[in-house]
Amino acid sequence: MAQAEQSSPAARPAGRIERARQTEARKIARRSFLRVSVFAGLTLSVGAMVAGFLGFFNRLKPTGFGGVVTVPRVSVPAPGAEPSRISGGKFWLSNLQGAEGDVLGVGGTGGLLALYWKCPHLGCTVPWNPSFNGAAVNFPGVTGWFRCPCHGSTYSRAGIRVYGPAPRPMDTMALSVNGDGSLSVNTGKITGGGADNPLRAVPYNG
Ligand code: FES
Repeated sequence: MAQAEQSSPAARPAGRIERARQTEARKIARRSFLRVSVFAGLTLSVGAMVAGFLGFFNRLKPTGFGGVVTVPRVSVPAPGAEPSRISGGKFWLSNLQGAEGDVLGVGGTGGLLALYWKCPHLGCTVPWNPSFNGAAVNFPGVTGWFRCPCHGSTYSRAGIRVYGPAPRPMDTMALSVNGDGSLSVNTGKITGGGADNPLRAVPYNG
């Protein structure tokens, strides 16, 4: 009896309507999917363009060597302590205690110096040698020097050339002290080393 009702003429139009509705629903779902796909593709493309744009301008404002390097307060050596090696900026951070390193007697009063570690002779990287004995070269009481491994140019804590083939003292980088005790060193702003290196030291009170 129930079978007879399903196949009755009155039931057939209702079935067709239902099938038509389902077909239409599938079309709508397909169109929605396509719209979402296109929108997602566009979003990704625009995102990639924005990222490229920002990356381009980021290169104009580099960090690390060539740009401004921030040295946290904790990495600033105490006056007279061993210089800190700041690898990202390719420099030594020296905190001179009074006239320390002023081997030419120009009148240094101490402070911070960012010394470019590239040797002014032929460009080797100059390491800090903490065990170097100044007494051996007529500087008794002085220990530790910058000494180039390539041809032996030797520099004081202020980067002043003591002896060796280098044509000048170690170069210095522009340095400023921030409010929180950290430093900003502009590694793109390098000044050729000179006898006045100790006078370029920036006072630092932590
Ligand atoms: S490169 Fe340093 S002394 Fe020659």
